[in-house]
Amino acid sequence: MNNLNSTTRDKVLSLLEENSNIYISGQDIADRLFLTRAAVWKAIKSLRNSGFQIEAVNNRGYCLVRNEEALNYDFISAAISNTNLEAIVYEEVTSTNNKALEYGQNGHEGDMVIIADYQTNGRGRRGRNFYSPKGSGLYMSFLLHPDIATSKATLLTCMSAVALCRAIKEVCNIEVSIKWVNDIFLGDKKISGILTEASTSIEDGSLSYVVVGIGINLFPPKEGFPEDISKIAGSLFESRAGHENVKNTLCAAIINKFMDLYLPFDMTFTKEYKSRSMLIGNYVKVNPSAPTKNLNGYALVKDIDEECHLVVEYENGNVEVLSSGEVSVVKY
Ligand code: BTN
Repeated sequence: MNNLNSTTRDKVLSLLEENSNIYISGQDIADRLFLTRAAVWKAIKSLRNSGFQIEAVNNRGYCLVRNEEALNYDFISAAISNTNLEAIVYEEVTSTNNKALEYGQNGHEGDMVIIADYQTNGRGRRGRNFYSPKGSGLYMSFLLHPDIATSKATLLTCMSAVALCRAIKEVCNIEVSIKWVNDIFLGDKKISGILTEASTSIEDGSLSYVVVGIGINLFPPKEGFPEDISKIAGSLFESRAGHENVKNTLCAAIINKFMDLYLPFDMTFTKEYKSRSMLIGNYVKVNPSAPTKNLNGYALVKDIDEECHLVVEYENGNVEVLSSGEVSVVKY
């Protein structure tokens, strides 16, 4: 992916960019840049691997399609401050979480991030789908090997939620809020979700590896959101206009903001998690991940504690500290 002379690649890219949406023949590119046809073909292949959409048509040549921003491996890898974090960029995957889990299962030892332009089988919590169509969002999963108790893995969800909010503020100047435990909202629309999955050792129950997957709806999907989520799902921007180049910058910022929190594992982020929470003071319906005596009860959200647990008070006065599960806001 990276062993091509980058000036050759850059020169080919510049020429295609100057002529975007226009076809130029391979011979023409070679002549104008004083390259061989083989070097042009290698550069095209490398640019495609980095996510550039370059179409090829017999007897016409190559054309850089500029209708939507593709992920750019070179930009992202250059912008990541932590050089030990390996990044892999795909145009299409079934699910970046699946890819990261595969690396984990195969014993990949280093931390890494898998990023994709779109997913054919994006997964959400509780077996739900996460709609991830082409040209609409940003999908990424970290494979991590944290030295923390299994019971603390949810903290990584909360940490990435804070990182996401910070990155969105920095890059897009938009304030978003967190709906415990893993959703990001813009106003009353969910624009992003986080799915954390872990593998534990059978012997001692310790964490072998964790995958933290983040999906963000950047732009409204061309065909609209599927019926079942159309009332709740939204996107960060209402249209692509003026935001054509946000995807790569936001992707790099999320990675950097997350690693800034993850590497020192500085728990002070929990204060920001709480201050960005949209639930405190609201009535919710609790759907616990495990049965409790207050099963499916209605409750008032009282607090988010320093471990990012949700403190709720049921109508019968029982107070419960939830470490996992899901709640939905109740409108009275
Ligand atoms: C949810 O809202 O329930 C969580 C959604 C998590 C979606 C992200 S997109 C990147 C990563 N890959 C997946 O298949 N899921 C996560």
